[in-house]
Amino acid sequence: MNVYDSWRIAAMLDARGMCATKSVADADIIILNTCSVREKATNKVFSELGRIRDTKKPDALFGIVGCVAREAGAKAFHRIPELNFVLGPQSYHRLPEILENPDTKLLNIDLAGLEKFDELPQMIKAPTVSYIPIQEGCNHCCTYCIVPYTRGREISRAFDDVMRDTAAAAKTGAVEICFLGQNVNGYKYTDENGKTYRLSDLIRATAVMPEIRRIRFTSSYPTEMTDDLIDMFRTEPKLLPFLNMPIQSGSPDVLKRMNRPYSLDSYLEIIDKLRAARPDIQISSDFIVGFPGETDSDFEKTVDIARRVKYINSYSFKYSPRPHTAAALMPNQIPENIKRARLAILDNELNEIQREFNEQCINKTMLCLCEGPDKTGRHLLYRTPYMQQCIVTKKTDQAPETMAQIKITAANRASLRGEFVKD
Ligand code: 5AD
Ligand code: SF4
Repeated sequence: MNVYDSWRIAAMLDARGMCATKSVADADIIILNTCSVREKATNKVFSELGRIRDTKKPDALFGIVGCVAREAGAKAFHRIPELNFVLGPQSYHRLPEILENPDTKLLNIDLAGLEKFDELPQMIKAPTVSYIPIQEGCNHCCTYCIVPYTRGREISRAFDDVMRDTAAAAKTGAVEICFLGQNVNGYKYTDENGKTYRLSDLIRATAVMPEIRRIRFTSSYPTEMTDDLIDMFRTEPKLLPFLNMPIQSGSPDVLKRMNRPYSLDSYLEIIDKLRAARPDIQISSDFIVGFPGETDSDFEKTVDIARRVKYINSYSFKYSPRPHTAAALMPNQIPENIKRARLAILDNELNEIQREFNEQCINKTMLCLCEGPDKTGRHLLYRTPYMQQCIVTKKTDQAPETMAQIKITAANRASLRGEFVKD
């Protein structure tokens, strides 16, 4: 979501005749887009702002946007008095106001709704992989998570607005659409005639666009994986056989304290249904280790579930206490050294599973999407349907095919090697 927000900010400034510079020292405006989901990123923001202040041109405008801006509010101006603007994740469309009135201080951290999407200019050329936000905020209240506070309650965008953006992206260069939302499969929009649209309706309407070759969505909440959506994996070949559906922990006790109200059985049942719909589907997850009160045996259950589901492309984090969250006040916070040790064990396991899966891909042919040349310029980087990176040796100097059938020839934990197949 932050990557998407940064694009839109860049496009907004682009529309006003500005362009990106290589270094902070050359810039007329410097915007730090921030994430507050874990403490480490938040801590870096203010030291980075201090560095920017000391490097920038004296009259350059600078400020922060995003979740740390919302979290810090007016306090940000106290910590760094030179700041010109502090804008939350729902109000960055107001950035041009500071260009018009550079001598003021601009502060807006409201959770105003989704008006920013209507106020931002359309992009002139869409990226090959285009993110389309369909909902923002979250109604789940996981006890560790700051998102309901920083991004607010869940709001779904109008079906017609999403489809307008999707069609515009398709017409101006998008080949892959990734629908975005903190709780993307909770998408639900009822129009003025009382007709309700779900994520499955967006997928179906996008799949008929000839320019669009691949569709995916992230991030999904397990209990909102409804049958209509699962069925899309059976009926829509453009929907990639890859799904991010975080389990967070494999321990029922920890899940309860996280306020994630599903049982392991019901979670695994959803995966069974997904595999019945699309036998080659692979699942990715986010994991938190060292949640308050997590015992060795709780942690082992997380490692067990990772092995059992064979998650690929997963993310694992040490639990980080966040302001405004219930878990930060829970007893039995886990010491840092134990969190670190558990993370290393889980990461090791996830890497092993990834390596195994990558090796199983050898000799398979997959339709992959080109992301451009590698650093040496001798190879092309492709992305498989499972989001693995695949390195292919360039044969000619001609512009690469955006989509190509690639036979996988070698694999390690981090990437694949492949060659073009003539079809
Ligand atoms: N500590 C550690 N990880 C967190 N996440 C969210 N909040 C926290 C926290 N307080 C992780 C979850 C989520 C991902 C986006 O970030 O795993 O799925
Ligand atoms: Fe945070 Fe995701 Fe839980 Fe919502 S579902 S509160 S965004 S972790």
